[in-house]
Amino acid sequence: MRTLAIETVGLVRHFDQTRAVDGVDLAVEPGIVYGLLGPNGAGKTTIVRILATLLRPSAGRAAVLDHDVVSEAAEVRRRISLTGQFASLDEDLTGAENLVMFGQLLGMRKGDARARTRELLADFELVEAAEQRVGTYSGGMRRRLDLAASLLGRPSVVFLDEPTTGLDPGKREEVWRMIRSISQAGGTVLLTTQYMEEADALADEISVIDQGRVIAHGTPPELKRAVGGQTIVVRPQDPGRITEAATIIEQVVGHAPAAASHEVLTAPVAGDGEFGALVRQLELAGIESAELSLRLPSLDEVFFTLTGHHANNGAHTDDETRTDDGSPTDGPGHSAQADTSRPPGAETAA
Ligand SMILES: Nc1ncnc2c1ncn2[C@@H]1O[C@H](COP(=O)(O)OP(=O)(O)OP(=O)(O)O)[C@@H](O)[C@H]1O
Ligand SMILES: [Mg+2]
Repeated sequence: MRTLAIETVGLVRHFDQTRAVDGVDLAVEPGIVYGLLGPNGAGKTTIVRILATLLRPSAGRAAVLDHDVVSEAAEVRRRISLTGQFASLDEDLTGAENLVMFGQLLGMRKGDARARTRELLADFELVEAAEQRVGTYSGGMRRRLDLAASLLGRPSVVFLDEPTTGLDPGKREEVWRMIRSISQAGGTVLLTTQYMEEADALADEISVIDQGRVIAHGTPPELKRAVGGQTIVVRPQDPGRITEAATIIEQVVGHAPAAASHEVLTAPVAGDGEFGALVRQLELAGIESAELSLRLPSLDEVFFTLTGHHANNGAHTDDETRTDDGSPTDGPGHSAQADTSRPPGAETAA
């Protein structure tokens, strides 16, 4: 049988009365980004701490690359890294000095630590900032330096516990690119997040965690399909033609669309065929669209359907507030035209 990067079977951890982790089974293939998605207090950090050998399970077992996290903790530690582990970046040292120092703490010779530092500074786009003191770094730069530090020892499995919490959307995407590059280089990433878009953008596979249990598992498209249905989104270029567009949608899909706003119509559809027909009918009527797309439900909608609550209702960053009118555009689906009305980070509005 192939070695799994991470395996847990019936994992349980309680703190007094709280069952923080309540029977979790995970099977993570090597080389992927695996997302643990769940709200505040779901048990994500507790799972990560057990896997990183910082906390013992109350019951069940967990292994990293076939090494048991309790009986072979040293073997596990040799193969992993955990962001936050190096949270104590030295503010008075430069980025490069910090990395060299961490390399030496890991037992690397100074020359090797320097060579590895140069590679990582390039990978994490920190070459220009390399000689600046970390005290002058922005939040995004620190996060990148943190990630770089966690890769010094070339770990096979990288645990990232909410790696972009508190970053603004532009910075978050920088960090996402770096995270993707870890798995592209062959590493396995276990990522925890409360953010739907983050799981959607990064994770090859997701376990949705709520109250210490896995309540759903699959690839992002699988999770979306499991909840069912796709939605057509139409935004006429000329808002004055929205009534005509609504009539056409009704003719094609057999029921009246919902108005997501004064400018946008949405309608659930059975399949791609109806989308094609709608594109043709709108064209025939001469109605140009600012947005014309077919999307799966967003992961937020999926989570809401599964749990009855939104995943990040405990998060405080404003940029995470999502509208409930079905407007998030993070679903894939094919867009006939890009939605230019929604610049990155515009989800804040509404
Ligand atoms: N050391 C501890 N002592 C007591 N209770 C704890 C401890 N660590 C976690 N818990 C509790 O276990 C539950 C799960 O916490 P955990 O930190 O794993 O959640 P999380 O999914 O990481 O949440 P967040 O998104 O807020 O980081 C919570 O109810 C929490 O209060
Ligand atoms: Mg946590």
